[in-house]
Amino acid sequence: MLLKQLLFAIFLLWGLQTLLTKGIKRPMRIITIVNQKGGTGKTTTAINLGVALANKGKRVLLIDFDPQASLTYSLGIKDANPTIADVMLNGKTRLTSTLTPTQEGPQVVPGSLTLADVELSLSTKIGRENILKNRLDGLEGFDFVFIDSPPSLSMLTVNALNASHEVLIPLQMEILSLQGLTQLLNTIVEVKEVLNKGLKITGIIPSMYDNRRNLSREILQTLKANTKERIFNTVIRECVKIAEAPSFAKSVLSYAPGSNGAVDFIDLAKEFLKGR
Ligand SMILES: Nc1ncnc2c1ncn2[C@@H]1O[C@H](COP(=O)(O)OP(=O)(O)O)[C@@H](O)[C@H]1O
Ligand SMILES: [Mg+2]
Repeated sequence: MLLKQLLFAIFLLWGLQTLLTKGIKRPMRIITIVNQKGGTGKTTTAINLGVALANKGKRVLLIDFDPQASLTYSLGIKDANPTIADVMLNGKTRLTSTLTPTQEGPQVVPGSLTLADVELSLSTKIGRENILKNRLDGLEGFDFVFIDSPPSLSMLTVNALNASHEVLIPLQMEILSLQGLTQLLNTIVEVKEVLNKGLKITGIIPSMYDNRRNLSREILQTLKANTKERIFNTVIRECVKIAEAPSFAKSVLSYAPGSNGAVDFIDLAKEFLKGR
């Protein structure tokens, strides 16, 4: 009897010590930032939401999965080698060997133009939708992994969606964006049905919002009336500092603290962490 109690006490102490040293382990969230239209704020959201979360002590990884590699350039990473393209093309290049720290906080898996070759080579590969998912297998040490995706519903985008738990959709407040959204939501439903049952739409982020234009407000209202998806209350306002920051290899949060852009992304991070 005494032995049992002793063993129980040891077990309890061991559990408590593990909890104190390692903390409660939360699952890593892998999130693709997606919109098949170019210039809707995907890369901007990946960087600035990522930095806002890193500033709150979260461990953030940004994966540049767009052949244009604007996320990589925007954070001042030059001549990266290896990149995610090498990891995709060659199973021997480990994802961890590409991890690049940044001054802004998040770590980056750099992209490169070679991703365009990856896209081509995928078309003849068996299991082509699963390559990124397989390469991310076993990745740990991050709270949030954001995948910045290309402006298309290509095999790269399908790979990103298949490898993710969630999607975030930055959407410009323009008439054509609403049409594009229907197509995007259909693709997400298809990926869910065929490949990744658990994929969730975490929310739509109204981006490049112009307070002075009635159109922005009207479109946001139409969107709210016509979609059952979550729309973030935080809108990302048009802000020239956001567009300037990448030339200085900075996020808007460190380039222009206190600007509308910095305030909006800090608010977005808060709302994102709070959940619905
Ligand atoms: N809220 C904003 N205000 C002003 N410029 C913005 C804003 N969001 C993005 N931009 C700029 O618009 C361009 C397109 O944004 P980007 O994030 O690269 O879009 P995507 O990745 O969807 O193609 C970039 O030059 C970016 O700096
Ligand atoms: Mg982009």
